[in-house]
Amino acid sequence: MKESFKAARVAENIYWVGAIDWNLRNFHGYITPRGSTYNSYLIVDEKIALIDTAKAPFASELTSRISSVVDPAKIDYVISNHVEMDHSGSLAAIRAAAPNAEFIADKRAAEDINRHFKANWNFKVVKTGDEISLGKRSLTFVEVPMVHWPDSMVTYCPEEKILFSNDAFGQHMASHERFDDKCLWEDVRGEAAKYYANIVMPLAAPATKALDAVSKLDIKMIAPSHGIIWRKNIADIVSCYKDWAANKTCKKAVVVYDTMWNSTEKMARAIAEGLESGGVETKFFCLRTSDVSEIIKEVLDAKAVIVGSPTLNNGMLPTVAGFLTYMKGLKPRGRLGFAFGSFGWGGGAIQAVEAELKAAGVELALPAIAYKYIPDAGEIAECFNAGHAIAGAI
Ligand code: FEO
Repeated sequence: MKESFKAARVAENIYWVGAIDWNLRNFHGYITPRGSTYNSYLIVDEKIALIDTAKAPFASELTSRISSVVDPAKIDYVISNHVEMDHSGSLAAIRAAAPNAEFIADKRAAEDINRHFKANWNFKVVKTGDEISLGKRSLTFVEVPMVHWPDSMVTYCPEEKILFSNDAFGQHMASHERFDDKCLWEDVRGEAAKYYANIVMPLAAPATKALDAVSKLDIKMIAPSHGIIWRKNIADIVSCYKDWAANKTCKKAVVVYDTMWNSTEKMARAIAEGLESGGVETKFFCLRTSDVSEIIKEVLDAKAVIVGSPTLNNGMLPTVAGFLTYMKGLKPRGRLGFAFGSFGWGGGAIQAVEAELKAAGVELALPAIAYKYIPDAGEIAECFNAGHAIAGAI
């Protein structure tokens, strides 16, 4: 049966022809309760160009949307801004549908796409500053290595002032809306922040370089490869990216813990009360009921990260270990924190939490707090005071 997906107009003769993944719930460990989109863009000029594709299972949705505008066989250029298979997964299907199209990518992407597909496709290899003409319009390329992979690149159309930014400025957010002026700024900004925290945060230095390169361009639209297209809040989202890449934090703390018989939870609550009493906005997460991607979004602009675990089998609870491993990979810089938790006899969780906090680059601003069995009133007061002390240090 012929599918009936339609393209969405982005500008005169420029179309969104991507796919909507309503059911995506986990993107390599990033929990995505709102799904995502794989945005592809079709430019119809004297030459026809397709910018990025979609995950392989969405190839027929992509070709159906292209077919609502032109016969895919007429595509002249297929541009791959990034190897990762959420954007390049449909290349084989597109190659079959557009056998005369020239594939374009930077050197690294060309090599790695061929490696992935076990192919020997003949790419036109481009680098920063190279340009192709489509007729009335042209496309120029800017390599942005490590935003998100070494092969990453963005494509710019100077005549339309559109930046096809691939992963940068994206959000994992399935939607029938395509543009930010049809959505609430805070909503899309929140998803962009979550995306940055979970994907781009460890790549702050290359992101800063990419922002410098992009800031030289005159932009009236940022068309990322995930989520909503920016055409209203461009200056605002670029400013957010600059803040995030500069690791700007605010008077905010995140308390993260899991608990066995509620002793560690009692300590967590007292610490949070102490932080609040010091005028610090405090986010509070039990790892048994919270997903790590949402917590990392809050770590993005928090100055302090305080982590607690009871002892289980001489170590920390697996939920806490999982969170700390995830955070360590995302490398938040310049955070303060300390470890806390209860134990029954041998202990061991606190040392393990402290070691992982240190490995994640968190400065241990206070000695760890560990209590045997249930904390008494004096010990709860000590937890409150520790929270208050961290508030003073923020
Ligand atoms: Fe959206 Fe790095 O792929």
